[in-house]
Amino acid sequence: MEARPTKLAIIGAGAVGTAIAYASLIRGVARTIALMDINAAKVTAEVLDMSHGLEFVPRADIVGGDDVSVCADADVVVFTAGAKQKPGQSRLELAEATIGLTNTILPGVVSVAPHAIYLMVTNPVDLVTYAALRATGLPNNQLFGSGTVLDSSRLRFLIAQHCDVAVQNVHAYIVGEHGDSEIPLWSSATIGGVPLLNWQPLPGGRPMDVAARERIHHDVVHAAYQIIEGKGATNYAIGLATARIVEAVLNNEHRVMPVSTVAQGYEGLGDVCLSLPTIVDRQGAGSRLHIPMSEQEHDGLLASADTLRDMQARFGL
Ligand SMILES: NC(=O)c1ccc[n+]([C@@H]2O[C@H](COP(=O)([O-])OP(=O)(O)OC[C@H]3O[C@@H](n4cnc5c(N)ncnc54)[C@H](O)[C@@H]3O)[C@@H](O)[C@H]2O)c1
Repeated sequence: MEARPTKLAIIGAGAVGTAIAYASLIRGVARTIALMDINAAKVTAEVLDMSHGLEFVPRADIVGGDDVSVCADADVVVFTAGAKQKPGQSRLELAEATIGLTNTILPGVVSVAPHAIYLMVTNPVDLVTYAALRATGLPNNQLFGSGTVLDSSRLRFLIAQHCDVAVQNVHAYIVGEHGDSEIPLWSSATIGGVPLLNWQPLPGGRPMDVAARERIHHDVVHAAYQIIEGKGATNYAIGLATARIVEAVLNNEHRVMPVSTVAQGYEGLGDVCLSLPTIVDRQGAGSRLHIPMSEQEHDGLLASADTLRDMQARFGL
């Protein structure tokens, strides 16, 4: 018997949604990719453009439209729809509009794809995820946010560059908010099994000292600002990161990823969405790992949770 074909639906065909679709096509993540956007001309053009490259990627179909029906029976739904910042609109007002948008769109999508795993990418992603859980009533495993998967890959890239090793050999996590209060976990970071805090520079290399760690932390937090200043949006790395999360779900990989969920039963963090290393599989976001932390990292995580809690209260969540 042939296996049931997989379907990935992406809401929002902007810079991020199309990068996720493109990365997913090249990686062969799903048999069908569906793009949905209120801008019908844009979504039609994006689908047509990607269709013309189907010969060069693993077998897939790509469809799209401006109606939620294109998401019907999806296995995974990725949410990237964003409200554009209007002239004079503050970041807080933008966040409020975005949360409103999530509340408006998602229930309709859930009605056509009730069994899908939902992955939120739209910013502020932790708040959007928390609001979406409320708006849909979906369980915590079935709907989660991309969280600090991207931030952790930025951290790993910068560590790899500093120590002159392959990024795939760096294991390190950013936890907490996807935003300014995020916390790098230096005490558990390793390169090829060597704790990063014991790292001896390779010949001609640089030490991984406090100054280097502070610089890397700063650069991770400010990476998005720099990219947005130069090109208006960040899209390729989040496209690759999201395609990888979707793959972990569809292939039931039990992969450890720092996704954003309500950390029920974890350190009293059951009332905010934030990122911790979590098992990702066909059921979505599963158990969180009890990763060891220094006292400073632990305090940082709790402070990040406080920041998110304050923001939630401001938006009436
Ligand atoms: N979580 C992360 O790590 C991460 C990384 C990068 C970007 N982002 C976020 O992703 C979001 C999207 O960014 P972008 O650069 O693609 O923005 P964009 O403006 O290019 O695209 C947003 C798209 O959403 C569509 N849209 C708006 N309202 C809609 C609706 N009601 N239904 C369907 N589609 C609708 C728009 O037409 C537009 O095409 C932003 O919130 C951004 O901050 C998150």
